[in-house]
Amino acid sequence: MNKNRVLSLRQVLMVSMALNVGLILRLGYVRETWRAEQSLHGFGLEEKSRSRVASMAASSQNVAHVSRGKQVVSIDGTEIEDGGERVINLDHGDPTMYERFWQQMGDKTTFVISGWQYISYFSDVTNLCWFLEPEFAKAVVRLHKLVGNAITKDRYIVVGTGSTQLFQAALYALCPPNASEPMNVVSAAPFYSSYPLMTDFLKSGLYKWGGDAHKFSKDRPYIELVTSPNNPDGSTRQAVVNRNQGILMHDFAYYWPQYTPISFPADHDLMLFTVSKSTGHAGTRIGWALVKDKEVARKMTKFIEINTIGVSKDSQLRAARILQAVADSCDRVGSPEEVQPFFDYSYILMEKRWKQLRAAVKKSGLFSLPDFPSKFCNFSGRTFESQPAFAWLKCEGEIEDCESFLRCHRILTRGGKHFGVCPKYVRISMLERDEMFDLFTERLSQIKL
Ligand SMILES: Cc1ncc(COP(=O)(O)O)c(C=O)c1O
Repeated sequence: MNKNRVLSLRQVLMVSMALNVGLILRLGYVRETWRAEQSLHGFGLEEKSRSRVASMAASSQNVAHVSRGKQVVSIDGTEIEDGGERVINLDHGDPTMYERFWQQMGDKTTFVISGWQYISYFSDVTNLCWFLEPEFAKAVVRLHKLVGNAITKDRYIVVGTGSTQLFQAALYALCPPNASEPMNVVSAAPFYSSYPLMTDFLKSGLYKWGGDAHKFSKDRPYIELVTSPNNPDGSTRQAVVNRNQGILMHDFAYYWPQYTPISFPADHDLMLFTVSKSTGHAGTRIGWALVKDKEVARKMTKFIEINTIGVSKDSQLRAARILQAVADSCDRVGSPEEVQPFFDYSYILMEKRWKQLRAAVKKSGLFSLPDFPSKFCNFSGRTFESQPAFAWLKCEGEIEDCESFLRCHRILTRGGKHFGVCPKYVRISMLERDEMFDLFTERLSQIKL
């Protein structure tokens, strides 16, 4: 064999070994880094070791609010650092404040699914909503009965990938297929900032965003979205247009006893609920609609069939387990277990946060917050003022652009224009983890002009 050839083979071998060793070391490093990040995310350790740099990109009205560039670096909004001062991101309503409750529940909500289970597309072919898991439907009915926030009798339950999918399914189902022009979809300002985006995203021929319901004057059919308690301002709402050709869709994402007194069981034609804000399981992506009309429920089911061929069974079963755990924790007759009722835990936490925020606002003197009437809650027996999932903060005096003003103080919020009103207002999430919320109130209280 030629000597040169032997040498080059040896060299190739050495280079290859060096590369492999390098690769192994690198994999080890990546794994360690990943592990460290996971444990930090899970247990909220020292801020310094968590910090990463991210841009404070200005908000853009036409960008979907869960997929901003800055979120790629820090999805939980807690790790951005800028100029030595930590950036507090309260733009999104990511309900991480419930994490601790669920940690305390330990294995009570652990749900194991083997590889062979739940592999069919179908859940119950005898049900109009054929992809609805019976266990999930049972858990929904039980929880509504227990809390008393919605009538479930004689309703069709349609499950969706979050209430976001159900919103779109409902728009499809409520619009006549052959109308000469798209139906107007309206909501009283300030309205949930995703409504206009979701309505117009696909430029449907069936419907279009019609703006603030207070200003809607067309003598045409319309769909009015009624969100109560409202996102962003927490107000209790009813329809405002009230004309003959109107169809109502009620979004009850926040009609739960940690946020507002439950005064009556809601009884409307089409009501949307979600685990995202009720139990905090936004990542499970499960919502449900309670629908009176069979044809509307059928069309919503059809939309979801065409859109995603149903809804993840894994998620539905996990959501069922969570809802059951909530109901068990509140309905403890005969149960010896020492579990804090979920709605006590969440109510007390919201109450504490609102007190803390109001104190910070008072101390600063530059802002104001809405007041809410005190009402009796049929579920808890308490009389209290709403303590919404978002604070609708107003910059008083000369400050015209509250979002930019707070951004200068490294606090990211969502400005009024996203909700159809003026920029003197911002929406602030009240659902962040304790550490971030405490940092926020502390910083807000110190702001001076
Ligand atoms: C009023 C309202 N409806 C619906 C949603 C979305 O819920 P889901 O996570 O179930 O899609 C939100 C989320 O912030 C909301 O505020």
